[in-house]
Amino acid sequence: MSATIIDGKAVAAEIREGLKLEVEAFKGEFGREPGLAVVIVGEDPASRTYVNSKKKGCAELGMYSEEHTLPEQTTQAELESLVRKLNLDPRIDGILVQLPLPKHIDADAVISTIDPKKDVDGFHPVNIGNLLIGRPCLKSCTPAGIMELIKRSGVDLTGKHAVVVGRSNIVGKPVSVLLLEKHATVTICHSRTKDLAGMCRMADVLVAAVGKARIIKGDWVKPGAVVIDVGTNKVEGSKKLVGDVDFDAAKEVAGWITPVPGGVGPMTITMLMHNTIKAARAIMTGK
Ligand code: GUN
Repeated sequence: MSATIIDGKAVAAEIREGLKLEVEAFKGEFGREPGLAVVIVGEDPASRTYVNSKKKGCAELGMYSEEHTLPEQTTQAELESLVRKLNLDPRIDGILVQLPLPKHIDADAVISTIDPKKDVDGFHPVNIGNLLIGRPCLKSCTPAGIMELIKRSGVDLTGKHAVVVGRSNIVGKPVSVLLLEKHATVTICHSRTKDLAGMCRMADVLVAAVGKARIIKGDWVKPGAVVIDVGTNKVEGSKKLVGDVDFDAAKEVAGWITPVPGGVGPMTITMLMHNTIKAARAIMTGK
């Protein structure tokens, strides 16, 4: 039996319709649009693509956005100075510093400079800490998008075994916390995990966030599982993107599966818009 495909593009479009109305309501109440500032250092082609999608997403919802493109040689002090300026800018509700940053920049220090109220990536230690203890916070966009997609499968996570492959600060760790919050039993796997295949075979919900093309094989998937593929890997010599999961094989075994592209990707940007509107409202109401 073939899995039900979770269409991230369609889910994202549906959520964005709701966000458009929220932007309209915000404008009516506060006389301005929610505003996002995107900071990009250097000219990494993948980062450029992401930043363009973020700007387009803002424009489609009627939000304000501005881009700050800084040269590769920008210093730590210059970058932090820009972030501090944006922290004080009343036009800006959300600040996103596109990662990865050049090697000479201490990314953690830059992220810690962002006002946690404007940290729409949910990367600031204050937001990560609040996430961990289950307090209200701005949640990282990809993990929040993943949770929304799992919700659309209709699977109740209570007591289910969720296996997360990957332990990054951006996806693996925060999504594990969100799954735990929904009462799943969570296993986090990584490059030193012994018997990764065996671990994956135990997963009722499998989240693949490794960054290695098709590393998760079809026979690693438990029949009927929910499979969420966060990978966006380039195939050599082509423009094609493939996930961390061998989609064609896995879809014959899984109950639900996200495609690449068109699965998690569109949700990440949608959650960024959601966070920016949420941040704007919190800033304007002091809540
Ligand atoms: N680079 C890849 N994904 C992300 C993301 O979600 N946020 C930021 N700031 N940079 C990224």
